[in-house]
Amino acid sequence: MAKQNIYDNEIFFEGYKKIRDNETNANNLFEKPALFSMMPDLNGKRVLDLGCGFGDHCKRFVEEGAEQVTGIDISEKMLQIAREENGDPRISYIHIPMEDIAQLNGQFDLVASSLALHYVEDFSDVVKSVYQLLRGGGIFLFSQENPLCTCHSGGDRWTRDENGNKIYVNLSNYGVEGERESVWFVDHVKKYHRTFSTIVNTLIETGFTIEKMMEPLPTEKLLEEYPEYQDLLHKPDFLLIKARKAEVGEI
Ligand SMILES: C[S@@+](CC[C@H](N)C(=O)[O-])C[C@H]1O[C@@H](n2cnc3c(N)ncnc32)[C@H](O)[C@@H]1O
Repeated sequence: MAKQNIYDNEIFFEGYKKIRDNETNANNLFEKPALFSMMPDLNGKRVLDLGCGFGDHCKRFVEEGAEQVTGIDISEKMLQIAREENGDPRISYIHIPMEDIAQLNGQFDLVASSLALHYVEDFSDVVKSVYQLLRGGGIFLFSQENPLCTCHSGGDRWTRDENGNKIYVNLSNYGVEGERESVWFVDHVKKYHRTFSTIVNTLIETGFTIEKMMEPLPTEKLLEEYPEYQDLLHKPDFLLIKARKAEVGEI
């Protein structure tokens, strides 16, 4: 199956880095707080981060007590920053796509992934590998673009009023799963759309129990400071899921 490595494209990389360097991006305001609010206790834990990017999360995992963290990514450019800015003797950064994690040695207490799984064509295959790598009772905690976003297949995402304010999301092709191409810094950025039920049922059929889901939304207080995030009340940008592998003997 095709594996895209768009973060090693120079123009894409520079554009993405600029967004992430801006502290008040949607990741920092919504996705990251939601992810860490669902995080299990990390003390003494072995953690695997799929699509670790700049390694910010890997660093935070060790700061919060993880004993050993493995960050993997398909992009050498992202890993280079991770090693320079978020290196630590307890973290190993490995250059492999998450489609190939079955070849990793060891067992993990937590497999985490932040905003990377929508780049993967065969979700089910990755979920099976994650299940194999987790110890009994281990947690798979991930975020991805919300399916209401990944379904987008061209045209304006919004219907606007006469003043240009966004009033409705233009939703189409939600039920048509598969590849979507978009323009984000460069042409032909590929992501994969899956419905909520496909995502949830893939986890359940693999053997996971879903413990919690979140679609983070702005609070009134946040909207006072950042009114531009009002749009999220029409369409959440992120989906987060916490799933647990059964303990040995539990099933
Ligand atoms: C939006 S960034 C998120 C980075 C990091 N998880 C964070 O939240 O700051 C997506 C990351 O996923 C990586 N990625 C995309 N497809 C991947 C794949 N098939 N295997 C591993 N990493 C992948 C990209 O290279 C990029 O570093």
